[in-house]
Amino acid sequence: SHKVIFDTDPGVDDAMALYFAMAHPAIEVVGITTTFGNVTVPQATANALYLTRLAGVKIPVAEGGAMPLMKVAGKPPGFIHGDDGLGNLPTRLAHSGQAETISAAEFIVTMARQYPGEITLVAVGPLINLGLALKMEPQLPKLIKQVVLMAGTVIEPGNVSPVAEANVWNDPHAADLVFSAGWKLAMVGLDVTHRVILESAYFAGLAQHHQQHPAITTLLHAVNFYCDFYQAARPDLGHACYCHDILAFVYLVAPELFQTQDGRVRVQLDGLGNGQTMMDRHAGALAYAQSGWEAHRPETRVCLQVDTAQCLALIE
Ligand code: BDR
Ligand code: CA
Repeated sequence: SHKVIFDTDPGVDDAMALYFAMAHPAIEVVGITTTFGNVTVPQATANALYLTRLAGVKIPVAEGGAMPLMKVAGKPPGFIHGDDGLGNLPTRLAHSGQAETISAAEFIVTMARQYPGEITLVAVGPLINLGLALKMEPQLPKLIKQVVLMAGTVIEPGNVSPVAEANVWNDPHAADLVFSAGWKLAMVGLDVTHRVILESAYFAGLAQHHQQHPAITTLLHAVNFYCDFYQAARPDLGHACYCHDILAFVYLVAPELFQTQDGRVRVQLDGLGNGQTMMDRHAGALAYAQSGWEAHRPETRVCLQVDTAQCLALIE
C-alpha cells in the first residue's frame, strides 16, 4: 500500500479527497500537513483534525506555512469553500486532538528520513510546505518515493486567471521549486479535474446508507455549499462541482485512467500571467536554451486526459 503524507488546505474538495484516501484499501495516510489556501492555516489545521476525528481516525496533523514563500498573501476565498472551509457549518461537535509540535516541513523531512524511499507526498494546496522541506533537506527528492500534485493546468484555462490554477497561483515560487526538484513527480491539474463533475444529488445518493454519520452529514453540508458556488459561477454545470483534489489520489491508485505526457514544467513568477504552469511538451526534441529553458530540468509527468467514467466508478 501507499504510505502517504497528505498536504492540504481543507477545503471542500480536500475533505472529499481525505475521505477517499481513508476509505481506499491501498492508501495509508501516515500524516496530514496543512497549508494556507482555501482558508487560513489555523483553520486548515482545525479542519484536518476535525475531519479525521469525526471519522473516528487519529492521524498526526502538522501545521504548515501561513503564507507564500515570497508573494504577498491574499485573502482566502470564503465564497468558494465557506469562511470555515467546510461550507460554514452551523455547528461543530466537540472533538479532541491537537497538532504535532513540529511544523509541516519538519514532519515531512522527519518521515522521509525515517522511511527512506517509502513516503508518497500527495499535495493538493499551495506548495509552501514542500518548498520549505526542500530547503531544509536538499536530499529530500532522493528520500521520497513519489509526489503527486493537484496543481496547474496546461491546455485548459485557469481558474484564478486565464492561465493560472489556484494552488500554483497562491505560491508560484514554492511551486517552481517543487517542479524543479528532481523527484518522481506527477501533476494532476485542471486539464483532467475539469473532466470530472459530480452532482450534489450524486453525493446524497452515495451517502444514503450512512446519513446519520456525522462525517457524512458534514461532507454533504460542505458539498452543497460548494455546488451553490459552482452553480453561480458555472450555471451550465447544474448543482454540481469539480472534485479536484480526489483526482490526485485517483491518479496514485489508478494511473492507467490518465493519459500523460512527460515534459519540463516551470512557473511564471510575476506579472499578469503569474502562477501559470508552462510545459515544454517537446522536452528532449527541441532545445529552447536561448529563452532560458535549461535542457536538463527534471521532467514532470503531466496528466492531460482522464477516463471520466472509470474515474467516477472508482470514486463511487
Ligand atoms: C484547487 O484549489 C483549491 O480551491 C481546491 O481545493 C483545489 O486544491 C483547485 O484549483
Ligand atoms: Ca485543495
